[in-house]
Amino acid sequence: MLKLLKLMFPYIRPFWKEALFAIGLTFPLAAIKAYEAYLVKDIFDKGFAAGSSFADARNLALLLIALGMINYPLRYFHYFGLRQIVDKSTRSIRAKIYEKFQLLPTGYYSQQKQGTLISTIMSDTMVFSEAFKNSLEVVREPITAISLLGVAFYHDWQLTLIIFATAPLFIITFYYTGKRIRRYVGMAQRDTAEMTHIVSEALGGQKIIKAFGLNDYIIQRFEKAQDLLLSHRTKSNSAEEHSHPLVELIGSIAFAGVIIFAHQRISSGALTTGGFISFVAALAMFMDPVRRFSKANAKLNQAQAAATRIFALLDVKEEPQENLKELISFNDSIEFKNVTFSYGEGVVLKDFNLKIQKGEKVGLVGLSGSGKSTLISLLLRLYPVTQGEILIDGVNVNDYSLPSVRKVFGLVSQDIFLFNDSIRENLTTGDLHTNEEISHALDISYASEFVKDLPRGIETSIGDRGVRLSGGQSQRITIARAFLKDRDVLLFDEATSALDNESEKIVQAALERVASHKTVIAVAHRLSTLKDFNRIIVMKDGAKIEEGPHDFLLTQNGEYKKLFELSQRN
Ligand SMILES: Nc1ncnc2c1ncn2[C@@H]1O[C@H](COP(=O)(O)OP(=O)(O)O)[C@@H](O)[C@H]1O
Ligand SMILES: [Mg+2]
Repeated sequence: MLKLLKLMFPYIRPFWKEALFAIGLTFPLAAIKAYEAYLVKDIFDKGFAAGSSFADARNLALLLIALGMINYPLRYFHYFGLRQIVDKSTRSIRAKIYEKFQLLPTGYYSQQKQGTLISTIMSDTMVFSEAFKNSLEVVREPITAISLLGVAFYHDWQLTLIIFATAPLFIITFYYTGKRIRRYVGMAQRDTAEMTHIVSEALGGQKIIKAFGLNDYIIQRFEKAQDLLLSHRTKSNSAEEHSHPLVELIGSIAFAGVIIFAHQRISSGALTTGGFISFVAALAMFMDPVRRFSKANAKLNQAQAAATRIFALLDVKEEPQENLKELISFNDSIEFKNVTFSYGEGVVLKDFNLKIQKGEKVGLVGLSGSGKSTLISLLLRLYPVTQGEILIDGVNVNDYSLPSVRKVFGLVSQDIFLFNDSIRENLTTGDLHTNEEISHALDISYASEFVKDLPRGIETSIGDRGVRLSGGQSQRITIARAFLKDRDVLLFDEATSALDNESEKIVQAALERVASHKTVIAVAHRLSTLKDFNRIIVMKDGAKIEEGPHDFLLTQNGEYKKLFELSQRN
């Protein structure tokens, strides 16, 4: 628990005043509980005793109301304060994790399941923050319990000793059931993460799932995950529900002992009936904090597991963010120098060299898997180059700050990414642009026509990843976005390959207009679109095998000619 508190400390610290206040309220609250138990004696001995007056009863009644009134604000501020601290610290941990998501290297995401990451930020954070409340309970409930035992002890210490005799049984029960619960709850948490993953896959792939009739397969996958979760929950539920009646059984045994002894003590006059009832009340009330303690203890165990996942994620090495040189503007050239690259196993680029001058338009062609997209990813520094170097204006890109390198490039690729928001939001993405600039961008990318026809023009919401637009329309929106961003170098990675012939033509025309005064590196699947490019690089198995303008390469009768004829046939 101390380790957990240490981890939580930075998130609680901003609210330390509220926290101290809430913790401070623990003591008066415990005292009120104990005093209420103590009062039971007076109620019986004075309030209801043979010679008691109305005034005695009235005074007791007033006292009870006064206690209730004092209890109200104390209890409110204690519990409300705790909840606020939990919610506020959840908020700041979530913010931290979400920012971390933006800093994690691309490679990390290909090793992780999305569902696990989602469940870490959504539910682990909550379980973790509640640990603050629970650690407090782990301290508060014993204080309450001890105060109540104190009352019982005051009334009759010998009877109280009987209760103490059963204490080891309670401790053993808590220890073993706690261990079992922890184990299965941990498993259930993992199962839930897996289910989140399956659900997000199923929702993302609806079209393909329907088209291939994979519904049954996808349902079975989900059912399997559900079964696993159910079996682990069954075990943790059973362990938890065993523990409650077990605790009650031990309680009854203790109570049975108390009744037997109390009978003797009352008949011998050592204990009044009111004293006995107060004693019993204290004991009955004593069980409540014990139960809360055991629950809080179980939750702390869950929080431990959640903290492990959260801090493992926060500890993942980030993309390098040191404050290096800013790349203010791109002036001269981009160069790959002896770059050899691998994603882990198998070399993808082999001793690759290429220099691109500012203003040049360079095409990359080659069979699928030859490394074209990898070159583009490396330019964007999505993966670190470990052998050889990439230079911009003669300086290794690793010496520039990461965001400033990425700002040189504008990417339009076959993965069309749009937010489920209005066209305006998708174009501006938080930047300020005038309506004129926006409509100019839409004009340039041949998008004005269809945007005008949408029910709400540029304010129309386009659905998840642009489902309410055709592929060609979505792509023209991303081209307009790239145009607005006005980056020095445009990267086109098979931007038209997912489109039908008709949209392909118009998107191609849009790309050419947007690219007219820019440096361009384009991967094209239709080679005729590269006819006017300054240079075409032909790639095979991660190496450059031919290089030159279109017409020159055709005369070479080599790989390019073959690829060109292949692309003409399709
Ligand atoms: N994220 C990745 N992790 C591991 N291997 C990858 C990854 N991306 C691409 N590859 C591999 O790298 C090689 C080159 O891929 P890529 O650059 O996408 O080729 P191209 O764009 O020319 O079709 C392929 O063999 C591919 O399997
Ligand atoms: Mg590719």
